[in-house]
Amino acid sequence: MTKAAKQIGNLSKEERPAFGQAINQTKKKVEALFKSALDEIENQADLASLGTGIDPTLPASPQFLGGTHPLTNVRRKVVSIFRKIGFTVSEATEVETEWFCFDALNTPEDHPARDAQDTLFLSPNSQWSNVCRKTSEAYVLRTHTSSVQIRTLLKEKPPLRVIAPGRCFRRDTVDATHSANFHQTEGLYVDEKVTVKDLKGVLDFFLKELFGDQLETRLRPSFFPFTEPSFEVDLKAPNLGKLSNKWIEIMGCGMVDPEVLKLVDLDPEKWKGFAFGLGIERVAMILHGIDDIRHFYQNDQRFLKQFSNVS
Ligand code: PHE
Repeated sequence: MTKAAKQIGNLSKEERPAFGQAINQTKKKVEALFKSALDEIENQADLASLGTGIDPTLPASPQFLGGTHPLTNVRRKVVSIFRKIGFTVSEATEVETEWFCFDALNTPEDHPARDAQDTLFLSPNSQWSNVCRKTSEAYVLRTHTSSVQIRTLLKEKPPLRVIAPGRCFRRDTVDATHSANFHQTEGLYVDEKVTVKDLKGVLDFFLKELFGDQLETRLRPSFFPFTEPSFEVDLKAPNLGKLSNKWIEIMGCGMVDPEVLKLVDLDPEKWKGFAFGLGIERVAMILHGIDDIRHFYQNDQRFLKQFSNVS
């Protein structure tokens, strides 16, 4: 174009304007073509860097959003069953004191449960301003949720119906059925004229809701320092996989011992009650046919995903 423009000197005056104009127009056209070609190359490079095209009309690829732990699911189920029959949830701390965990539950100092072999004691200098003590007894990690019975009875007036789900700790050597950290749900029912019949009625209703209507239960005599009489509850059902049609021990229970009622200033002639304690891991293991308690604490997604309510 520059060479061609130089030719203008060879033209006559009349021819020059038209020639100049033609040269300019051609130059503009060529420049525009170059610009659009460059733009196109740049666009294509941008597109290529974005990867292959997507089809926004296809369903989204599945994402695992996480879910609740099988023990959480069982705890929620247990709570929702008891809610139906008027129980409310009462909670207390995992750090407890010896008095609430044992003495108040009629468990004397020489009882084997108080042995340091079974109970995790906290350092005598540790301070827990949110856990009130009776006097200056030692702090422990609660070995059962039964201490919530006492904390509730000191706080609320009967008639009352509470359940207390929560974490407990014992110095157990870990194996397929023992864990130093486990979960229980306590139940406490105090009213006038409560009998073993009420205890059996409530537990039968609860266990049938949990394991199905074909379930049979039996109360087997047992001993707990804070209930009298005391029982173990066994259940038998045809829909429990390998455990079908066998008697399986599921929980401890009994009528609240008059000594416990006296200690919280309730007249045992007027007030009666029953209490029970259920292991959450045990229920989950029976419900899902899990044979090793350690699965619950290993956070292996291949295990956890099987019980998740979200996928
Ligand atoms: N606390 C008892 C235990 O851990 C269970 C229990 C609770 C028994 C309430 C009777 C009444 O073994």
